Amino acid sequence: RRPLRIALLGCGVVGTEVARVLTGDADELAQRVGAPIELVGIAVRREGRRRDLDVPDDLFTTDAMALVARGDLDVVIEVIGGIEPARGLILAALENGASVVTANKALLAEDGATLYEAAEKAERDLYYEAAVAGAIPIVRPLSDSLAGDRVTRVLGIVNGTTNFILDAMSTTGAGFNDALDEAQRLGYAEADPTADVEGFDAAAKAAILAGLAFHTRVHISDVHREGITDVTAADVRSAAEIGSVVKLLAICELGPSGEVSARVHPAMIPDSHPLASVRGAYNAVFVESEGAGQLMFYGPGAGGAPTASAVLGDVVSVARHRLAGVRGAGETVHAQHEIVPIGRA
Ligand code: HSE
Repeated sequence: RRPLRIALLGCGVVGTEVARVLTGDADELAQRVGAPIELVGIAVRREGRRRDLDVPDDLFTTDAMALVARGDLDVVIEVIGGIEPARGLILAALENGASVVTANKALLAEDGATLYEAAEKAERDLYYEAAVAGAIPIVRPLSDSLAGDRVTRVLGIVNGTTNFILDAMSTTGAGFNDALDEAQRLGYAEADPTADVEGFDAAAKAAILAGLAFHTRVHISDVHREGITDVTAADVRSAAEIGSVVKLLAICELGPSGEVSARVHPAMIPDSHPLASVRGAYNAVFVESEGAGQLMFYGPGAGGAPTASAVLGDVVSVARHRLAGVRGAGETVHAQHEIVPIGRA
């Protein structure tokens, strides 16, 4: 069988791990796919030798657009992040006949509609398991496995950094700033922690989860957002006194008339709830549906190897589709869902 040609856009923490597996475990992946796979190019921001990666130097290019426009690619993996140039590159990849695997939650929450439409028009797959809760399989369970059920609520701890901080406050009695310092020292929180601690990262994931769970489209601006910067040691202590923990929750709900809402804010959870046991930088998504009842998905929500695991699972899926000449489940949008803007006047 002809080899499937794959291009990788971005070679940071996740991209490096994806490249390592695509090259190092190529034979095993080929068996899973049913055809050889070939990494044909890696787009990076800056020139320079990558001694940490055992791939030929000539695979690297700083011209990402030329790479996606070559027209013979089966799969393009986007792990650059952010809105541009990622959006333009994904659209060009689809227009040039490739299926796309992305981990880009910010872009999906901001302009998923444009990407879905482009994938539809090009009749190619757009897969993004890694965009929500890293390694945890949650996108496909919501879009495929539970597609015959009616999901009514999704509660998620979808940001590891804030869960680490709140957990540290709860176990050590520390205040927010000291716990943030510790998270930064251990490499969980970034130097600029705004996206995590102000809830922007969780809000993007909430928009994606709500769209998937309720088969509709939710924009990040529809998500009410409150971060954890105002949570005090006293708040965490008071919660403990009544047998609860403080968690930053993404809450997506289907109302009785089919209306959809999504919000992110700190919430007290009783110790008896499965989400209360999610410690450190782990993530979990708790799903309630009419048929299945209650389900919980748990695991690492960030990091190179865990996120690469989700990316590579998508690569195998879309590669199998390419071989079979089919597409995976596309977006199923029900126009009747009204998005309720909680917390906005
Ligand atoms: N900064 C995110 C987190 C990682 O702390 O969970 C990936 O979204």
